[in-house]
Amino acid sequence: MSNDGINQGRRRFLTGATCVVGAAGVVGAVIPFVGSWNPSAKAKAAGAPVKANISKIEPGQMVTVEWRGKPVYIVRRTQQALDNLKGREELRDPSSEASDQPAYVDAEHRAIKEEYLVLVGLCTHLGCAPMFRPDVGAQDLGGAEWLGGFFCPCHGSKFDLAGRVYKGVPAPTNLVVPPYSYESDGVVIIGVDQEAG
Ligand code: FES
Repeated sequence: MSNDGINQGRRRFLTGATCVVGAAGVVGAVIPFVGSWNPSAKAKAAGAPVKANISKIEPGQMVTVEWRGKPVYIVRRTQQALDNLKGREELRDPSSEASDQPAYVDAEHRAIKEEYLVLVGLCTHLGCAPMFRPDVGAQDLGGAEWLGGFFCPCHGSKFDLAGRVYKGVPAPTNLVVPPYSYESDGVVIIGVDQEAG
């Protein structure tokens, strides 16, 4: 009798696990060109690198991939967005001195190749997922002063299109840039550092 109880519990667990796999499948279907190389779920949880095909991202678009259970945002920035990164006095840490990013990204663009921004999509306040808001001049985000970026709906933190935090918001530091590298022009590997030199 007690065995039945155990088996029931196990069955419930397996059903739950199937649901998780199903959800991952849906994400894969939405972004079909991401994750052509799929380590096992166990390896991913342990921190295996994740490859992302960035060749189909249009200028101004963002895609999200999952790495170590966290969302990673990959944004292809327009030339206008890159121009808007300069001389931003409303930012708390414009040179990223007190923020978390690998040494091989430059302080202003916070990227290896300036066109592609790669960020951990978790707010540095309490970990909500900031929304991608590239819409310059958005009335709800300050009108003409808003040059596009990320907005955290939980407590109102704002970040520019390099993930740099605004002054006067709860988030203390810029969004984190994870370790990453280019396997080729069209493929980045999240979780593997760019080699020096
Ligand atoms: S978690 Fe983003 S502002 Fe609080």
